[in-house]
Amino acid sequence: MKADIIKKLKSENKALNDEKLSEDLGIFDTTIQQHIRELQDLGYHISETDKGYHLTNEPDVLFPWEFEKRESHIHYFSEVNSTMDVARNMAKDDCPHFTVIIAESQTKGRGRLKRKWISEEGGLYFTIVLRPDMPITLVHMVNFCASLSLAKILQNHFSLNAKVKWPNDVLVDDKKISGLLSEMEADDNGIYFVNIGIGINVNNDPALEEPNATSLKKLLGKDVLRKTILSLFLDEFENSLNLSNVNKIMIQWKKYTMTLGKEVRIVTSRETTEGTAIDVDESGALILKLEDGSLKKIIYGDCFVR
Ligand code: BTN
Repeated sequence: MKADIIKKLKSENKALNDEKLSEDLGIFDTTIQQHIRELQDLGYHISETDKGYHLTNEPDVLFPWEFEKRESHIHYFSEVNSTMDVARNMAKDDCPHFTVIIAESQTKGRGRLKRKWISEEGGLYFTIVLRPDMPITLVHMVNFCASLSLAKILQNHFSLNAKVKWPNDVLVDDKKISGLLSEMEADDNGIYFVNIGIGINVNNDPALEEPNATSLKKLLGKDVLRKTILSLFLDEFENSLNLSNVNKIMIQWKKYTMTLGKEVRIVTSRETTEGTAIDVDESGALILKLEDGSLKKIIYGDCFVR
């Protein structure tokens, strides 16, 4: 019911009194005030005058009803250990393709290579459950498609110099604005699920913990609504997954990357390799040209530009 009240206040964009809301939404007058109080507690700025209730600004909230056509596939939590854990459980319980789990905060957010992902207030943290119909050998394309989609919306909607860094970071002006983590379950019958977890620095200041990171607020000098970013991203990512073939994703990813042509150091738990990043092959591996001229294929690792 709260969602209906918010939708109504937004669509009418003027003050509505108890009688009008009660009549249009088919609820008792007496319960409206209670719902309004609860909405105010959730962060909605609703003023009350003798003309009725008026929604005075767009709060930075991520409740499912804020994503109209996706509402039934979006799950919002104020705090979780990690959206990856919630997503894994939901995926095992057969939730539908493109289910999105959002958390306001994570107590055990995680990054690639078992790193911690600090989830400060104002950031955007979510995991998407996907059930792609593709051979397991191509599954890395889903990750490439996700980081590419984010770089595209940051370029196209915010005029930012956003680039993808192998394997899956998004940087703006060479500083990390987003990281992506994926987890998968598959068997002989194919992929059961691929969960893509994304953390985006929106209105938080990651530089306090991580000097080489930035946020949208820092870059644009103002707060940005996280629901706008998420909405744009989900639309772009879903369309790209539906419309693009593997080759197209890879060609575009190469256009948007800052890694190729650079002198890089790749660090894994086992070794460190230095060389020039010359290509990414069809399996998503980075091809390095080493100092002695030989080529080395790198499947995973942290990439540092030297
Ligand atoms: C990385 O850069 O190492 C990847 C970071 C991925 C962080 C996101 S935040 C939402 C989701 N939940 C997690 O615990 N991790 C991912």
